[in-house]
Amino acid sequence: MAESVLFQPGRIGPVETTNRIVRAGTSETASGDGGEITDNLVEIYENLARNRVGLILSGHMFCHPRGRYATRQTGIHDDAMVPGLTRLTSAVHRHGGKVFAQLAHAGSQSRVPENRPLAPSPVPNALTGRMVEAATAVEIAEVIEAFAGGARRALRAGFDGVHIHAANGYLISEFSSALTNRREDEWGGTARARDRFVLEVLKAVRREVPAGMAVTVKLGLQDAVPGGMALDEGVRRGEALAAAGADAIEVSCNAMRLPSDSAKEYVAVGPGRALRDLLLHRLLSAPHPEAYFLPAARELRKRTRVPIILVGGMRLPTTMETILERGEADFVAMARPFIREPDLVVKLAQGRRGPVECTSCNLCLMHESHHSLRCWRVPRRRLLEHAIFRLRGGLREAHRPHSSR
Ligand SMILES: Cc1cc2nc3c(=O)[nH]c(=O)nc-3n(C[C@H](O)[C@H](O)[C@H](O)COP(=O)(O)O)c2cc1C
Ligand code: SF4
Repeated sequence: MAESVLFQPGRIGPVETTNRIVRAGTSETASGDGGEITDNLVEIYENLARNRVGLILSGHMFCHPRGRYATRQTGIHDDAMVPGLTRLTSAVHRHGGKVFAQLAHAGSQSRVPENRPLAPSPVPNALTGRMVEAATAVEIAEVIEAFAGGARRALRAGFDGVHIHAANGYLISEFSSALTNRREDEWGGTARARDRFVLEVLKAVRREVPAGMAVTVKLGLQDAVPGGMALDEGVRRGEALAAAGADAIEVSCNAMRLPSDSAKEYVAVGPGRALRDLLLHRLLSAPHPEAYFLPAARELRKRTRVPIILVGGMRLPTTMETILERGEADFVAMARPFIREPDLVVKLAQGRRGPVECTSCNLCLMHESHHSLRCWRVPRRRLLEHAIFRLRGGLREAHRPHSSR
């Protein structure tokens, strides 16, 4: 198995990785009330690094208090966070791993009721229904400075890179799409003007970090909302980010109506796997195809040589290898498979050829901010705990996507 392309060394800007397998950003909602790192979080990251993940992208961290997405989300908004974040990077580096800090601002997608988020324009969020005020010019400048502050803290805490979250419907996505950005000033009105916010964030972040640190972007290439941003606009934005110095682009979707727009359900799960994982309602359904952002990545590849990190339904080693061998992406990233199998890379190195164990049921996503990150299908008693929590109404909020929160 040593000759698999998955285990060839990789490079993202100045950062070298021992293999091509990336843990995609996965919000752990396991921080303290103020967003500070906990022992549980250090354990999660140390376990991934010990198990040879080539590059770990952190869960999204809010870089401004008004940009907080969920309770117990990790923060990088204040210098007081730095000692905890340093513990986390030290734990990864102890095992020779690499870790990037994902900087985020949730915009109107924030699920913290007492928060006062902002957005480019007062448009109800397609996922949460939340309506917030349009940001003023001063507030926009403050948010860009908050991303720069997050990058400064990431540097002090010893991260190997900074990953800007410009996907999945959060604030930068909102500036990128004409559906949510109705401005007619220098921040909106044309595709070029909609480029400006993410480009300014990239510039501000770049300014703060030395040449030895990578700066990458998770970019929404296309809205998952009908009538929204087309692939062509997203691809051109990716090209502009590469030209402005992004060291790699992770491909995802932009505005979302459902959490499953970015994390599709039941990927590569046919009847046999459905039965083994007690997914009885899937016994007669066709599996969702793997690598579902590959068509978008192919379009980006046609326009730029920037390293591409492909996330979204990577489930079989052969699929991952084929994509890397064909040069359609330079890294493959996974989120849910690592929740269920933190030792997945070791298993792949040992020659595992079957699909990952995760069946993309999204229970982990449903429990986000209700519980810290875990797989709810193993051990099996967790399924029972989930059922009890749900029956007691614990997930009611999560199942009301269009309520205003
Ligand atoms: C529980 C959960 C939390 C997530 N949190 C983040 C996050 O913090 N940042 C991010 O960029 N994407 C996040 N995502 C999306 C994943 O990074 C990834 O794009 C998506 O799950 C598809 O990849 P997969 O099929 O390997 O899970 C999350 C997904 C899940 C399931
Ligand atoms: S709960 Fe477990 S099986 Fe379901 S998507 Fe999450 S990690 Fe995968």
